[in-house]
Amino acid sequence: MADLKQLVNKLSQLKILLASDVAQQMLDGIDENSLLQKIIEMKSRAASENPEEAESKKELEFIGSADILRMAGDIATEKVPVPVEVSRSPEFKPEAAEIEGKFKVSEKEITAVTGIDDFTKHFNNRLARIKKILDRRQGIKFLSSLEDIGKNRYMSGREVAVAGIVSKRIATKNGNIMVELEDGTGTVKVIFMSRQAHGQKSGTFDDAARIVNDEVIGVKGKLSHPFIIANEIVWPEPVIKTERKFEEDFSVAFLSDIHTGSKLFMEKNFLHMLKWIQGRVGENNSIAGKIKYIVIAGDAADGIGIYPNQDRDLQVLDVYQQYSMLFNMLEAVPDYIHVFVMPGNHDATQRAEPQPPFDASIIRDFRKSNVHIVQNPSFMSLNGLEVLSYHGTSLDSVIAAIPGLAYSRPEEAMTELLKRRHLSPIYGGNIILPSAKDNLVIDKTPDILHMGHIHTNGIGRYKGVWVVNSGTWQSKTEFQTRQGHMPTPCKMPVFNSKTNKFTTVNFS
Ligand SMILES: [Fe+2]
Repeated sequence: MADLKQLVNKLSQLKILLASDVAQQMLDGIDENSLLQKIIEMKSRAASENPEEAESKKELEFIGSADILRMAGDIATEKVPVPVEVSRSPEFKPEAAEIEGKFKVSEKEITAVTGIDDFTKHFNNRLARIKKILDRRQGIKFLSSLEDIGKNRYMSGREVAVAGIVSKRIATKNGNIMVELEDGTGTVKVIFMSRQAHGQKSGTFDDAARIVNDEVIGVKGKLSHPFIIANEIVWPEPVIKTERKFEEDFSVAFLSDIHTGSKLFMEKNFLHMLKWIQGRVGENNSIAGKIKYIVIAGDAADGIGIYPNQDRDLQVLDVYQQYSMLFNMLEAVPDYIHVFVMPGNHDATQRAEPQPPFDASIIRDFRKSNVHIVQNPSFMSLNGLEVLSYHGTSLDSVIAAIPGLAYSRPEEAMTELLKRRHLSPIYGGNIILPSAKDNLVIDKTPDILHMGHIHTNGIGRYKGVWVVNSGTWQSKTEFQTRQGHMPTPCKMPVFNSKTNKFTTVNFS
């Protein structure tokens, strides 16, 4: 509850004064954080509507009793989490309740950056690990380092295979593409000719247009000092994965971008989905009854201060309240289903990826043994099914950088990440934590690569690996309207271990 003395102190630091007609009785029953937030919002709204006046105003501002009463009214009418009914239909006999949940989630050490050395270590680590994957490729022997090439130790005309991190990609005056590869021992310039000797368009040239900065690639070509003339790009992509066989018949439901607290969060549909999982509504109960796991790939809540004037789009202005709303809904998930929740770029945790799980200030007193708060990204084994789940923040930079990709087909952009063995290859495209170990390298090929962020569903398969984007539970935002994006809300992909297939259950 708001305390007059404390409030006066906190506001004076913000150059705001309470008028003398504000009394303690008036503040009783009002949550202090919510009130502070309201006052700050009022101030920032006034500043954004009239920036010149705000700039020239150097003196203190007063908040009177009328303002406080109005804000108290706003807080009271704002959404407070309503308890979600936890029950199950008596006829509903879920098969998944009979299966033991055997799961493991990998925990990565997330260390903070300490200096320029960490950047070097980070990229060297990325290169070493992805080079190891390239070295496993049958029939290609990559040079162990670029040092000898840089020092002209090989004769022109020799066929070579090299691997390195892309430090530069430019179009040359002759219409070719020049890519500079680096490996810590040296650099090499690789030329991708636009036309082959007989004048035909070169396929390698088209592939080169898809190369992005900071990714690790292999190249086969002919030395022509000081260049290598490329004839093939070797991506560190997975080798074909054979179909997995599972003894148990269970399903995993994939979700992302719930955005609780947003005015556009489709709460009714979400609650309907929870009732369906409880076996209380709808058909397809056989699908619901097999769900053993639910994976939520970030943007669980809408957060605050994520973009300018976000408060206009928020129904719940208090970030803690946004999470109570989420956890309150997760209470309704039956105990035999394990739920994994990870953060995304909207969530209240460190923005740089990998993101740590929500801390105690967010989780507060929410405790439910079947709900697990995990890192973004997380590699998990769910009764043997291997799932790599990542929010997908990097998809923006990947879609912008690689020709032919589109927001309407997120599975294609996700496949490009899988091919590159990295969840966020373009440095600077989104915020990453450059720790000594690059925690965004995809060392191990999962059975399913799961992401969100794009708010559009998409399912694809590449080399036997399923890629799935689980869309959103938020309707179309103004930003998406302006960008021409078409979200596909309330469509939940569910994967079954026996059929080895996805079914998308539509709650829209
Ligand atoms: Fe989102």
